[in-house]
Amino acid sequence: MSSMNRIPVILDCDPGHDDAIAMMLACASSELEIIGVTSAAGNQTIEKTTLNARKLMTFLNLQVPIAAGAPGPLFRKLIVAPEVHGSTGLDGPELPEPAVGLESCSAADLIARLVRTSETAVTLVPTSALTNIALFLTAYPELKDNIARISLMGGGVNGGNWTPAAEFNILVDPEAADIVFRSGIPLTMAGLDVTHKAIVTREDTEQFRLLGNRAGVLTAELLDFFVTFHEENFPQFGGSPIHDACAVAVLVKPELFTIRPMHIAIDTDGELTTGTTVGDQRHGFAPPPNTDVLMDIRREEFVRFLIERIGSLA
Ligand code: RIB
Ligand code: CA
Repeated sequence: MSSMNRIPVILDCDPGHDDAIAMMLACASSELEIIGVTSAAGNQTIEKTTLNARKLMTFLNLQVPIAAGAPGPLFRKLIVAPEVHGSTGLDGPELPEPAVGLESCSAADLIARLVRTSETAVTLVPTSALTNIALFLTAYPELKDNIARISLMGGGVNGGNWTPAAEFNILVDPEAADIVFRSGIPLTMAGLDVTHKAIVTREDTEQFRLLGNRAGVLTAELLDFFVTFHEENFPQFGGSPIHDACAVAVLVKPELFTIRPMHIAIDTDGELTTGTTVGDQRHGFAPPPNTDVLMDIRREEFVRFLIERIGSLA
Protein backbone atom coordinates (compact mmCIF):
# COMPACT_ATOMS: atom_id res chain seq x y z
CA MET A 1 0.00 0.00 0.00
CA SER A 2 1.50 3.35 -0.96
CA SER A 3 2.41 5.56 1.92
CA MET A 4 -0.09 8.04 0.49
CA ASN A 5 -3.02 5.84 1.52
CA ARG A 6 -1.71 4.51 4.82
CA ILE A 7 -3.48 5.72 7.95
CA PRO A 8 -0.98 7.53 10.24
CA VAL A 9 -1.51 6.25 13.78
CA ILE A 10 -0.09 6.99 17.22
CA LEU A 11 -0.32 4.15 19.75
CA ASP A 12 -0.93 5.28 23.35
CA CYS A 13 -0.46 2.15 25.42
CA ASP A 14 0.21 0.61 28.83
CA PRO A 15 1.86 -2.72 27.92
CA GLY A 16 0.26 -4.91 29.08
CA HIS A 17 -0.09 -8.24 27.29
CA ASP A 18 -2.96 -7.23 25.04
CA ASP A 19 -1.31 -3.87 24.30
CA ALA A 20 1.70 -5.84 23.07
CA ILE A 21 -0.47 -7.90 20.71
CA ALA A 22 -2.15 -4.71 19.49
CA MET A 23 1.27 -3.19 18.76
CA MET A 24 2.30 -6.29 16.80
CA LEU A 25 -0.93 -6.21 14.82
CA ALA A 26 -0.38 -2.54 13.99
CA CYS A 27 3.21 -3.27 12.90
CA ALA A 28 1.95 -6.09 10.68
CA SER A 29 -0.73 -3.98 9.00
CA SER A 30 0.49 -2.08 5.95
CA GLU A 31 -2.78 -0.15 5.95
CA LEU A 32 -1.36 1.69 8.96
CA GLU A 33 1.74 3.81 9.44
CA ILE A 34 2.78 3.98 13.08
CA ILE A 35 4.28 7.47 13.41
CA GLY A 36 4.78 7.42 17.17
CA VAL A 37 4.19 5.68 20.47
CA THR A 38 3.30 7.13 23.85
CA SER A 39 3.22 5.20 27.09
CA ALA A 40 0.51 5.50 29.71
CA ALA A 41 0.19 4.57 33.36
CA GLY A 42 -2.46 1.95 33.94
CA ASN A 43 -1.62 -1.74 33.83
CA GLN A 44 1.50 -0.76 35.69
CA THR A 45 3.36 2.42 36.70
CA ILE A 46 4.54 4.73 33.93
CA GLU A 47 8.12 3.63 34.49
CA LYS A 48 7.22 -0.01 33.89
CA THR A 49 4.86 0.52 30.95
CA THR A 50 7.39 2.84 29.29
CA LEU A 51 10.16 0.25 29.68
CA ASN A 52 7.83 -2.46 28.32
CA ALA A 53 6.88 -0.31 25.32
CA ARG A 54 10.55 0.37 24.54
CA LYS A 55 11.39 -3.34 24.84
CA LEU A 56 8.55 -4.25 22.48
CA MET A 57 9.61 -1.59 19.97
CA THR A 58 13.15 -2.98 20.11
CA PHE A 59 11.86 -6.52 19.57
CA LEU A 60 9.73 -5.33 16.61
CA ASN A 61 12.40 -2.97 15.26
CA LEU A 62 9.75 -0.26 15.41
CA GLN A 63 11.89 2.85 14.90
CA VAL A 64 9.56 5.74 15.66
CA PRO A 65 9.59 8.32 18.45
CA ILE A 66 8.31 7.27 21.87
CA ALA A 67 7.53 9.57 24.81
CA ALA A 68 6.56 8.69 28.35
CA GLY A 69 3.08 9.75 29.39
CA ALA A 70 1.66 11.20 32.59
CA PRO A 71 2.58 9.33 35.79
CA GLY A 72 -1.09 9.14 36.77
CA PRO A 73 -4.64 10.32 36.18
CA LEU A 74 -5.60 13.99 35.98
CA PHE A 75 -7.02 14.16 39.49
CA ARG A 76 -7.08 10.69 40.98
CA LYS A 77 -4.63 8.25 42.49
CA LEU A 78 -3.32 5.70 39.99
CA ILE A 79 -4.66 2.14 40.13
CA VAL A 80 -2.58 -0.59 38.52
CA ALA A 81 -3.31 -4.21 37.58
CA PRO A 82 -0.47 -6.52 38.68
CA GLU A 83 -2.95 -9.34 39.17
CA VAL A 84 -3.60 -9.31 35.42
CA HIS A 85 -0.26 -8.36 33.87
CA GLY A 86 2.20 -9.20 36.66
CA SER A 87 4.65 -7.08 38.65
CA THR A 88 6.52 -5.96 35.50
CA GLY A 89 3.32 -5.29 33.58
CA LEU A 90 4.45 -7.77 30.96
CA ASP A 91 5.26 -10.93 32.93
CA GLY A 92 6.04 -14.12 31.05
CA PRO A 93 8.22 -13.68 27.97
CA GLU A 94 11.84 -12.52 27.94
CA LEU A 95 12.21 -9.34 25.89
CA PRO A 96 15.40 -7.60 24.75
CA GLU A 97 16.75 -4.67 26.71
CA PRO A 98 15.46 -1.45 25.09
CA ALA A 99 17.54 -0.04 22.25
CA VAL A 100 15.08 2.75 21.41
CA GLY A 101 15.59 6.10 23.10
CA LEU A 102 12.95 8.11 24.87
CA GLU A 103 11.94 11.57 23.67
CA SER A 104 12.56 14.21 26.34
CA CYS A 105 9.12 15.75 25.78
CA SER A 106 5.83 14.67 27.28
CA ALA A 107 3.42 12.34 25.53
CA ALA A 108 1.04 15.24 24.86
CA ASP A 109 3.85 17.29 23.31
CA LEU A 110 5.00 14.38 21.14
CA ILE A 111 1.45 13.82 19.90
CA ALA A 112 1.23 17.54 19.06
CA ARG A 113 4.56 17.48 17.21
CA LEU A 114 3.61 14.42 15.17
CA VAL A 115 0.12 15.70 14.39
CA ARG A 116 1.48 19.08 13.25
CA THR A 117 3.98 17.47 10.87
CA SER A 118 1.68 14.78 9.48
CA GLU A 119 0.51 15.42 5.91
CA THR A 120 -2.83 13.77 6.67
CA ALA A 121 -5.05 13.72 9.73
CA VAL A 122 -3.80 11.31 12.40
CA THR A 123 -5.69 8.49 14.10
CA LEU A 124 -4.99 8.09 17.82
CA VAL A 125 -5.17 4.54 19.20
CA PRO A 126 -5.26 4.68 23.00
CA THR A 127 -5.43 1.26 24.67
CA SER A 128 -5.08 2.53 28.22
CA ALA A 129 -6.39 5.27 30.48
CA LEU A 130 -7.10 8.40 28.41
CA THR A 131 -4.96 10.78 30.46
CA ASN A 132 -2.41 11.55 27.71
CA ILE A 133 -5.13 12.09 25.10
CA ALA A 134 -7.01 14.45 27.43
CA LEU A 135 -3.81 16.38 28.20
CA PHE A 136 -3.09 16.70 24.45
CA LEU A 137 -6.63 17.90 23.64
CA THR A 138 -6.55 20.40 26.51
CA ALA A 139 -3.11 21.80 25.70
CA TYR A 140 -3.55 21.87 21.91
CA PRO A 141 -7.23 22.54 21.09
CA GLU A 142 -6.15 24.07 17.79
CA LEU A 143 -4.92 20.63 16.63
CA LYS A 144 -8.25 18.85 17.18
CA ASP A 145 -9.14 19.12 13.49
CA ASN A 146 -5.90 17.31 12.60
CA ILE A 147 -7.18 14.20 14.39
CA ALA A 148 -9.09 11.95 12.01
CA ARG A 149 -10.39 9.57 14.68
CA ILE A 150 -9.70 8.16 18.10
CA SER A 151 -10.03 4.36 18.10
CA LEU A 152 -9.88 3.40 21.76
CA MET A 153 -10.12 0.31 23.87
CA GLY A 154 -12.25 1.13 26.87
CA GLY A 155 -15.68 1.16 28.41
CA GLY A 156 -18.65 -1.02 27.72
CA VAL A 157 -22.39 -0.33 27.59
CA ASN A 158 -23.40 -3.48 29.44
CA GLY A 159 -21.27 -3.45 32.58
CA GLY A 160 -17.65 -3.33 33.62
CA ASN A 161 -14.72 -5.50 34.62
CA TRP A 162 -12.85 -3.58 37.31
CA THR A 163 -16.14 -2.71 38.99
CA PRO A 164 -19.59 -4.04 38.13
CA ALA A 165 -20.16 -0.82 36.17
CA ALA A 166 -16.77 0.38 34.91
CA GLU A 167 -14.06 -0.93 32.61
CA PHE A 168 -10.46 -0.47 33.80
CA ASN A 169 -9.14 2.06 31.24
CA ILE A 170 -12.06 4.42 31.80
CA LEU A 171 -12.12 3.90 35.58
CA VAL A 172 -8.42 4.78 35.94
CA ASP A 173 -9.16 8.29 34.67
CA PRO A 174 -12.87 9.08 34.23
CA GLU A 175 -12.26 12.84 33.93
CA ALA A 176 -9.87 12.24 31.04
CA ALA A 177 -12.41 10.00 29.37
CA ASP A 178 -15.06 12.70 29.81
CA ILE A 179 -12.83 15.19 27.95
CA VAL A 180 -12.29 12.71 25.11
CA PHE A 181 -15.96 11.73 24.72
CA ARG A 182 -17.03 15.40 24.75
CA SER A 183 -14.33 16.40 22.22
CA GLY A 184 -16.44 16.04 19.07
CA ILE A 185 -13.65 14.01 17.43
CA PRO A 186 -14.92 10.88 15.59
CA LEU A 187 -14.64 8.05 18.12
CA THR A 188 -14.56 4.28 17.87
CA MET A 189 -15.01 2.47 21.18
CA ALA A 190 -13.78 -1.12 21.48
CA GLY A 191 -15.40 -1.81 24.83
CA LEU A 192 -16.08 -4.95 26.79
CA ASP A 193 -19.20 -5.63 24.71
CA VAL A 194 -16.87 -6.73 21.94
CA THR A 195 -13.59 -7.49 23.70
CA HIS A 196 -15.14 -10.11 25.97
CA LYS A 197 -15.97 -11.94 22.73
CA ALA A 198 -12.51 -11.37 21.20
CA ILE A 199 -11.28 -14.54 22.86
CA VAL A 200 -8.09 -16.43 22.02
CA THR A 201 -8.21 -19.98 23.41
CA ARG A 202 -5.34 -22.23 24.48
CA GLU A 203 -5.81 -24.12 21.20
CA ASP A 204 -5.54 -20.83 19.27
CA THR A 205 -2.37 -20.05 21.26
CA GLU A 206 -0.70 -23.16 19.86
CA GLN A 207 -1.39 -21.84 16.35
CA PHE A 208 0.65 -18.73 17.17
CA ARG A 209 3.46 -20.91 18.59
CA LEU A 210 3.44 -23.12 15.51
CA LEU A 211 4.00 -20.07 13.30
CA GLY A 212 7.60 -20.43 14.44
CA ASN A 213 8.52 -16.79 13.81
CA ARG A 214 9.72 -14.61 16.71
CA ALA A 215 6.47 -12.62 16.85
CA GLY A 216 4.35 -15.76 16.81
CA VAL A 217 6.33 -17.33 19.63
CA LEU A 218 6.21 -14.06 21.61
CA THR A 219 2.44 -13.90 21.17
CA ALA A 220 2.09 -17.48 22.45
CA GLU A 221 4.28 -16.68 25.46
CA LEU A 222 2.25 -13.54 26.23
CA LEU A 223 -0.95 -15.57 26.03
CA ASP A 224 0.48 -18.36 28.20
CA PHE A 225 0.71 -15.81 31.03
CA PHE A 226 -2.38 -13.73 30.19
CA VAL A 227 -4.72 -16.73 30.22
CA THR A 228 -3.95 -17.66 33.84
CA PHE A 229 -5.78 -14.62 35.26
CA HIS A 230 -8.72 -15.16 32.94
CA GLU A 231 -9.05 -18.90 33.57
CA GLU A 232 -9.16 -18.17 37.29
CA ASN A 233 -11.50 -15.17 37.19
CA PHE A 234 -13.49 -15.48 33.96
CA PRO A 235 -13.59 -19.24 33.25
CA GLN A 236 -16.67 -18.66 31.12
CA PHE A 237 -14.50 -16.94 28.50
CA GLY A 238 -12.63 -20.14 27.61
CA GLY A 239 -9.50 -18.12 26.96
CA SER A 240 -8.08 -14.59 26.95
CA PRO A 241 -9.89 -11.46 25.73
CA ILE A 242 -7.52 -9.62 23.42
CA HIS A 243 -9.05 -6.26 24.31
CA ASP A 244 -6.56 -3.84 22.77
CA ALA A 245 -6.13 -5.59 19.42
CA CYS A 246 -9.79 -4.76 18.66
CA ALA A 247 -9.02 -1.02 18.60
CA VAL A 248 -6.42 -1.71 15.89
CA ALA A 249 -8.28 -4.46 13.98
CA VAL A 250 -11.33 -2.27 13.41
CA LEU A 251 -9.15 0.22 11.51
CA VAL A 252 -7.93 -2.38 9.01
CA LYS A 253 -10.74 -4.98 8.93
CA PRO A 254 -13.97 -3.32 10.12
CA GLU A 255 -16.04 -6.12 8.63
CA LEU A 256 -15.00 -8.30 11.55
CA PHE A 257 -17.23 -6.21 13.80
CA THR A 258 -20.82 -5.19 14.40
CA ILE A 259 -20.73 -1.44 14.97
CA ARG A 260 -23.51 0.66 16.51
CA PRO A 261 -23.41 4.49 16.55
CA MET A 262 -24.42 5.60 20.03
CA HIS A 263 -24.24 8.58 22.38
CA ILE A 264 -21.74 7.79 25.13
CA ALA A 265 -21.34 9.87 28.29
CA ILE A 266 -18.96 9.25 31.19
CA ASP A 267 -20.04 8.99 34.83
CA THR A 268 -17.35 10.78 36.86
CA ASP A 269 -18.89 10.83 40.34
CA GLY A 270 -21.25 7.92 40.96
CA GLU A 271 -20.65 6.11 44.24
CA LEU A 272 -20.96 2.71 42.53
CA THR A 273 -20.87 3.82 38.90
CA THR A 274 -17.90 6.14 38.46
CA GLY A 275 -16.09 5.27 35.20
CA THR A 276 -19.19 3.95 33.48
CA THR A 277 -19.53 4.66 29.75
CA VAL A 278 -23.25 5.32 29.67
CA GLY A 279 -24.59 4.35 26.23
CA ASP A 280 -27.95 5.92 25.36
CA GLN A 281 -29.81 3.23 23.41
CA ARG A 282 -33.30 4.74 23.86
CA HIS A 283 -34.94 4.78 20.44
CA GLY A 284 -36.24 8.25 19.66
CA PHE A 285 -35.00 9.88 22.86
CA ALA A 286 -31.22 9.50 22.67
CA PRO A 287 -29.04 12.51 21.75
CA PRO A 288 -27.11 12.29 18.47
CA PRO A 289 -24.45 9.56 18.53
CA ASN A 290 -20.87 10.63 19.30
CA THR A 291 -19.26 7.18 19.16
CA ASP A 292 -19.11 4.10 16.94
CA VAL A 293 -19.46 1.34 19.53
CA LEU A 294 -18.21 -2.15 18.66
CA MET A 295 -20.90 -4.54 19.83
CA ASP A 296 -19.93 -7.90 18.34
CA ILE A 297 -17.09 -9.70 16.55
CA ARG A 298 -16.62 -12.67 14.21
CA ARG A 299 -14.25 -14.37 16.64
CA GLU A 300 -12.88 -17.15 14.49
CA GLU A 301 -12.14 -14.76 11.63
CA PHE A 302 -10.55 -12.34 14.12
CA VAL A 303 -8.23 -15.05 15.43
CA ARG A 304 -7.32 -16.18 11.89
CA PHE A 305 -6.64 -12.53 11.03
CA LEU A 306 -4.36 -12.11 14.05
CA ILE A 307 -2.48 -15.34 13.22
CA GLU A 308 -2.04 -14.35 9.58
CA ARG A 309 -0.85 -10.82 10.36
CA ILE A 310 1.48 -11.78 13.22
CA GLY A 311 2.75 -14.63 11.08
CA SER A 312 3.93 -12.01 8.57
CA LEU A 313 6.31 -10.45 11.09
CA ALA A 314 9.93 -11.50 11.64
O1 RIB B 1 -10.01 -3.51 30.61
C1 RIB B 1 -9.05 -3.93 29.68
C2 RIB B 1 -8.03 -2.87 29.45
O2 RIB B 1 -7.31 -2.62 30.65
C3 RIB B 1 -6.95 -3.29 28.42
O3 RIB B 1 -6.50 -2.15 27.73
C4 RIB B 1 -5.86 -3.85 29.27
O4 RIB B 1 -4.57 -3.74 28.64
C5 RIB B 1 -5.93 -2.94 30.46
O5 RIB B 1 -5.22 -1.75 30.12
CA1 CA C 1 -4.10 -1.65 27.70
